[in-house]
Amino acid sequence: MEQKSITPVRSIQGTVQVPGDKSISHRALILASLANGSCTLRGLSGAGDVLSTIDCLKGLGISITKRSGAVAVKGKGKHGYKKPKKALNAANSGTTIRLLSGVLAAQPFVCEIDGDESLRNRPMRRIIEPLESMGGHIESVGYKAPLKIFGGPLHAIDYASTVASAQVKSCVLLAGLYAKGSTRVSEPAPTRDHTERMLEEFGAKIGGAQNVVCVQGPAELTPTDIDVPGDISAAAFFLVAACLLPESSIAIENVGINPSRIGILDALTAMGARVERTEVSNLNNEPRCTLTAVHSPLTAASFGGSMIPAIIDEIPILAIAATQAHGNTVIRDAGELRVKESDRLAAVAQNLLAMGAQIKETRDGFVITGPTPLHGAEIDSFGDHRIAMSFTIAGLLAAGETVIKGSECVTISFPGFFNSLEQVCVA
Ligand code: S3P
Repeated sequence: MEQKSITPVRSIQGTVQVPGDKSISHRALILASLANGSCTLRGLSGAGDVLSTIDCLKGLGISITKRSGAVAVKGKGKHGYKKPKKALNAANSGTTIRLLSGVLAAQPFVCEIDGDESLRNRPMRRIIEPLESMGGHIESVGYKAPLKIFGGPLHAIDYASTVASAQVKSCVLLAGLYAKGSTRVSEPAPTRDHTERMLEEFGAKIGGAQNVVCVQGPAELTPTDIDVPGDISAAAFFLVAACLLPESSIAIENVGINPSRIGILDALTAMGARVERTEVSNLNNEPRCTLTAVHSPLTAASFGGSMIPAIIDEIPILAIAATQAHGNTVIRDAGELRVKESDRLAAVAQNLLAMGAQIKETRDGFVITGPTPLHGAEIDSFGDHRIAMSFTIAGLLAAGETVIKGSECVTISFPGFFNSLEQVCVA
């Protein structure tokens, strides 16, 4: 296990590039693999999770090659996968296992998909139940990975998901590509809609209203080249660092600003942050822009309800911002954080307490009272990339040395994180 020592800096300044959006990268690879011909993907993330999707698709007989800064995927159509020779390995990636399971449930073969220790502990009943009600059959022990998927014909369903999860919604929609008629998913709160947007780009018929989406099956996917924007979840670390460190100003180019993902911009703005959007454009149905953030005094705010899915991955870094905001910042309705790569509510509380912050963990969130000066501490990343990166930012403003244990896990979503950060830090 690697450890990284972080010492305080005065400010961050300059321009930074973030990896391609992880969620969009997974979808681009999966849809391209199902298209009737070759697709070129630009700006694809090189994150560990995305490599896991590539690895699984290769195991299913799909050719994926690097070609002058882009990735070429030879789609073989919806029925082109080959039975894998061994179990597919989704490693740490919930998106890989949950989205691919929707496709695998419709294949004319049996296969197994597994993951690392963290993934094996994450809930899979949420995808097994809807897939089985479509006629699929999946064996598991206690609804956890490894999953043994007995592929076969599926029929359309009208599914009311009880959890606000884009992974569940996407799993059912992908399975719906194989079912005759309209497969409909409703969710308790709107979640990221990259799957719907990209399916439309690939020519599928998508419909729906607020909190409901449907796909018309069986659908054929037209080969489409995709340009993946930068990942706002990766940009969030730099935005918060700029807000908190005096005299900071940071520009992040070509960041995806899909409305279902910009909760972090809304949250920071509500707390008084100055984040500007320029160079706004739209490509492949996904808006993008340059984000510029400058040092801003923050005040506390409360976040809950339907706002939570839009900030779900950014709550750990928002917690760091909250330690420097005046008043009580409240997060509620975020119980889903307990079943991410780690129990992120517990991980944030334990590590912030170690740094001297005032935090009270609740069943489905926390209350942070600020501002409090932070001091360096030994941080347990729990092998969770977003915890490691959030506490690296905390370490930049803490007095003394902060040690991030298990820092190598940042490669799961942001392989060049420490280098990119170093380049903009002003001592
Ligand atoms: C993701 C959806 C979210 C998010 C995860 C990526 C996706 O999970 O936390 O990092 O790409 O669909 P849930 O949809 O399960 O909340």
